[in-house]
Amino acid sequence: MKTVIANWKMNVGVRESVALARGTLLTLRGRKTIPDLVICPPDVALSEVRKVIARSSAKLGAQNVSWEVSGSHTGETSTRMLQEFGVTHVIIGHSERRQHLGETDEMIQKKVAHVLAEQMIPILCVGETKLERDAGQAQEIIRHQLSVALQGVRLRGGDKLFVAYEPIWAIGSGEPASVGEVVEMHRFIDSVLTQLFPDAPEGQISVLYGGSVTGENAYGLLRETEVDGVLVGGASVKLNQFKDIVGAAAEVLEAQQTA
Ligand code: PGA
Repeated sequence: MKTVIANWKMNVGVRESVALARGTLLTLRGRKTIPDLVICPPDVALSEVRKVIARSSAKLGAQNVSWEVSGSHTGETSTRMLQEFGVTHVIIGHSERRQHLGETDEMIQKKVAHVLAEQMIPILCVGETKLERDAGQAQEIIRHQLSVALQGVRLRGGDKLFVAYEPIWAIGSGEPASVGEVVEMHRFIDSVLTQLFPDAPEGQISVLYGGSVTGENAYGLLRETEVDGVLVGGASVKLNQFKDIVGAAAEVLEAQQTA
């Protein structure tokens, strides 16, 4: 399967989210095979977007969550609150939160563990800076992020984990990682995850790519077996782009079926 995740970030209000959700569902229409679609609107739009996607196969995701169950945590949102809106997936450790809001690997670990304990699906984001890549440290950084964020995390039957490889230099820059760079890093991530979760059955962990994914480059990325899907920011709020990304995923799936 291939998964397409739309991360709308803080780019759309409630009314725009409703329109965008309707348009996003239209991108699935008329296709024989469709990818799994997860829509992550801003929290304030979850309730309305839920209504729009209610009768579709699309899933609802949040862009962040607290690791606490409840209590005096001003401004935070709990997993239970998200579940009231039908949220099943949560983006955790996005680089924008790591870089600008001081989120650490330790905080991210608590969120991943808590989200899994609440039977939700974490979308754990990892990625290196340009400086780190140029210094030849990309793999070391990713290994560190994964091992801290997943320390002590256990996957039970029925749990699912997404890891999104999102090189920081590729996010919102219009400069995606090359297919070769993505495949190489995904293989590395797979090897680290196999060490961390030696008993995970096939399909329990998916590795996605994010960072300047567009309608033009999506097919080239998605046709690689190492790429289980894409996490899309900017192009997910541009319907003509997003339509092509969903189309690319559908084409890859159709080709796999006929192969
Ligand atoms: P982008 O963002 O597609 O705009 O590069 C991806 C992300 O931040 O998840």
